[in-house]
Amino acid sequence: MSLTKTSTLVLLLFSLTFSSCTITLKEFVKWKQIEFADLPEKGNLIQKNVVPQGFAVSKDKLFIAVPRRNIGIPSTLNYIKLDGREFYENPKLYSYPNYETNELNPSNEANANKIISVYRPRVDECNRLWFVDSGVINTSGNATVLQAPAIFVIDLATDAIIKRYEIPNHIVRDGLGLASITIDTIDCNENAFAYIPDLLNSQMLIYSLKDNVAYRMQHNFFRMNPFEGEFDIDGLKFSWDDGIFSITLGKRDDSKDGSYRDAYFHPMISFSEFSISTRILRNQTLATRSYHGNDVKLLGNRGKNSQSTMHSYHEKSGIIYFAEINKNAVSCWNTRKPLRPSNVKIIARDDIKLIYPSDLSVVDDDLWVMSNRMIRQIYSTLNADDFNFRIFRQPVKDTLAACNATASRRRKFAN
Ligand SMILES: *[C@@H]1O[C@H](CO)[C@@H](O)[C@H](O)[C@H]1NC(C)=O
Ligand SMILES: *[C@@H]1O[C@H](CO)[C@@H](O)[C@H](O)[C@H]1NC(C)=O
Ligand SMILES: *[C@@H]1O[C@H](CO)[C@@H](O)[C@H](O)[C@H]1NC(C)=O
Ligand SMILES: *[C@@H]1O[C@H](CO)[C@@H](O)[C@H](O)[C@H]1NC(C)=O
Repeated sequence: MSLTKTSTLVLLLFSLTFSSCTITLKEFVKWKQIEFADLPEKGNLIQKNVVPQGFAVSKDKLFIAVPRRNIGIPSTLNYIKLDGREFYENPKLYSYPNYETNELNPSNEANANKIISVYRPRVDECNRLWFVDSGVINTSGNATVLQAPAIFVIDLATDAIIKRYEIPNHIVRDGLGLASITIDTIDCNENAFAYIPDLLNSQMLIYSLKDNVAYRMQHNFFRMNPFEGEFDIDGLKFSWDDGIFSITLGKRDDSKDGSYRDAYFHPMISFSEFSISTRILRNQTLATRSYHGNDVKLLGNRGKNSQSTMHSYHEKSGIIYFAEINKNAVSCWNTRKPLRPSNVKIIARDDIKLIYPSDLSVVDDDLWVMSNRMIRQIYSTLNADDFNFRIFRQPVKDTLAACNATASRRRKFAN
């Protein structure tokens, strides 16, 4: 056989094996445009500016965060009611905990009783909703800082705000770069920490609920890699520079209280993945020391164009899922294997439905992913007649075959 024919055959086999190894994620919710159920009047709503960015899942609610990256967003923290259905189309959003808390003051005066802008909330193992209110309205790059960023904790049983902690100015000047939060619960009292990546200042903020104190860790691995910032998505080319973006907690270790874990993290502009033990993060002395020795580890490279917004660990399988924005895809890596490109597998890819996977989270044994086509909204325009915003829900077990396939596929080639 000629070399060309052989390569064609290999290529064909490759694509066959490849396609049979990906799955189609199940749509759980989709919207053409986002509408609100409980607005007193339509006054300050500009429909086309309402782009959801993150979500969180509780027993009976799916929280939807619409950060104020534009004017005309009446409510930033919202939810839809879950009633056991397997699919929702264009459900209207309810403000959470209520509209008054989300409503801006007429001339944007600071007000600690308000929630200004939320990106990616999370529900912890103790039925509490956590999020960062950035305190900023970022309108087409014109950032209006209303007030200091604050960490919120809400008890979902009573809908009461049990904590609002203002992050002090010496840790971060404003909340523009605080787009996600990861919760480390040790018990369901106050023994919990929040880890917050600061994508603008390339630092990690750490908050102890028990001590009601925040401090910051700085490290060069929190910065973006200047050679890995190019994007080509949905026909649009651009370059970004975001630093540390997502933190996910791995397997609990066998220390005395059994609660330390590796915190996996990556800058958005990077193909690499890193880790640091929560033993360091939880200890203010260790987290804030200026020389970090071997505290932070480079785990390896995930592969070309693998820039990721959020990632999330599933404890029973040891798998981490990644929302890959440059490929309109979701990938996985089994942490029991070394991190290299051949051990990172695309499990789902869709050049229409998965454009800009903005949030991803493993909740119990389900993988949840949100996509929002934000790229079109920033660099082009969204078509209000299309379904633009989606949340997918897939049992982890349905992804295992696709996730395991990597090694065998690659082995075939090596032979
Ligand atoms: C602020 O908005 C501009 C324009 O939409 C965007 O490029 C920038 O990334 C935003 N900043 C943050 C921190 O989200
Ligand atoms: C920036 O946004 C604020 C409100 O968010 C507005 O008052 C101000 O006029 C804007 N500035 C520019 C230059 O667009
Ligand atoms: C934090 O680490 C320092 C240095 O290793 C140690 O002396 C101290 O006891 C630790 N603090 C806590 C609360 O574990
Ligand atoms: C895939 O790998 C996981 C973890 O190693 C294992 O538990 C599971 O049985 C495998 N599943 C399939 C379908 O191959």
